[in-house]
Amino acid sequence: MQAVLLVGGEGTRLRPLTCKTVKAMVPILNRPFLEHLVSYLAQHGIDDIILTLCYLPDTIEKYFGDGSGFGVKLTYVMEESPLGTAGAVKNAERYLDDTFFVFNGDIFTDLDLKAMLSFHREQKAKATIALTPVDDPTAYGVVEMDSCPRVGRFVEKPKREEVTSNLINAGTYILERDVLTEIPPETRFMFEHHLFPTLLRNGSLICGYPSDAYWIDIGTPQKYCQVQYDLLQGKGRTSLYSRSRREEMSCGARSSIHPMAKVEGPVVIGDDCSIGPHVQLKGPAVIGNNCRILDGAIVERSILWSSVLVGKKACLEDCIVGNNSSIGEGSFVGEGSVIGENVTVTDGSRVEPAEKIWPDTEV
Ligand code: GDD
Ligand code: MG
Repeated sequence: MQAVLLVGGEGTRLRPLTCKTVKAMVPILNRPFLEHLVSYLAQHGIDDIILTLCYLPDTIEKYFGDGSGFGVKLTYVMEESPLGTAGAVKNAERYLDDTFFVFNGDIFTDLDLKAMLSFHREQKAKATIALTPVDDPTAYGVVEMDSCPRVGRFVEKPKREEVTSNLINAGTYILERDVLTEIPPETRFMFEHHLFPTLLRNGSLICGYPSDAYWIDIGTPQKYCQVQYDLLQGKGRTSLYSRSRREEMSCGARSSIHPMAKVEGPVVIGDDCSIGPHVQLKGPAVIGNNCRILDGAIVERSILWSSVLVGKKACLEDCIVGNNSSIGEGSFVGEGSVIGENVTVTDGSRVEPAEKIWPDTEV
């Protein structure tokens, strides 16, 4: 089975994390997001995957190669300038045959794809869209049903007063290849604004496939943390993190935790880390590879990427710290703040709650 993954967006809402790291490669429990997605697809028998790329493509290609190390075949299709979600799929048309999946490259879900495919085939739909309920549909695309399961209307990012349903487009589609004839080549074209409304006008059958599977769009710092806290607490599933380890703590190779450190799980610690004496590590939290947390520091409910240094008695609360950044001795990093890569927070500094610090800077 084939799938096209849309991984060409800039990830603006995740900045400053995505200034140097493409959204698809941001770490989730210390493994690139895309690796979780690829392994989920492989498990569901989708082993021929086409990646549509635009922004910072090299890191993805370098990590995944031809996909053989991940049990799949990967094909890379480049866009010189962003072609939009449907334009990107049109650009990959030469690699596609009959029925295929499309995934937004920022969705974490455990939706049963085989069941969705059977549904699509039973309904003889031209397109089937996975739907998920959310509390606030204004950040997403609302899908209105005409008569279940037939879709009647799309309202992308509705204003609050326009919201008519809490069922949104979950960013997973099954398409018949002939719908690609409705997409103009080399033109910016969106599923949400252009292709789906065109298909409806033509009288094509678009079905909605609602489910209450775990679902999250990782595209904001808050959701990016949430997915990891959920996985650590047993919500959602990924084959890259085993259930038996969920309880308290998983510690990578060559990492050391001082006997006087206090770790309250669930916490994932990467390889080659050192956790010093009197450190308090309070989960849910993720510590990347090669991090050092020095004496008496407190790290609570946070995500640290690789090679982060947390100085003595520093205090981090509900924050994200990018690769190669250091938090000085006695510094405080407040709730909801996001520190980009290669940032130096000097000794005794204060990063206010919700503050965003751009890469390669000193605070
Ligand atoms: N190749 C390529 N080219 N990919 C793109 C492009 C492009 O021009 N534009 C966006 N993408 C990719 C992004 O990288 C992302 O993985 C996916 O398409 C969706 O783009 P977002 O920018 O994250 O869209 P959204 O989250 O605001 O809204 C979409 O997803 C919602 C579900 O999370 C829409 O499909 C909504 O209708 C939907 O509810
Ligand atoms: Mg998104």
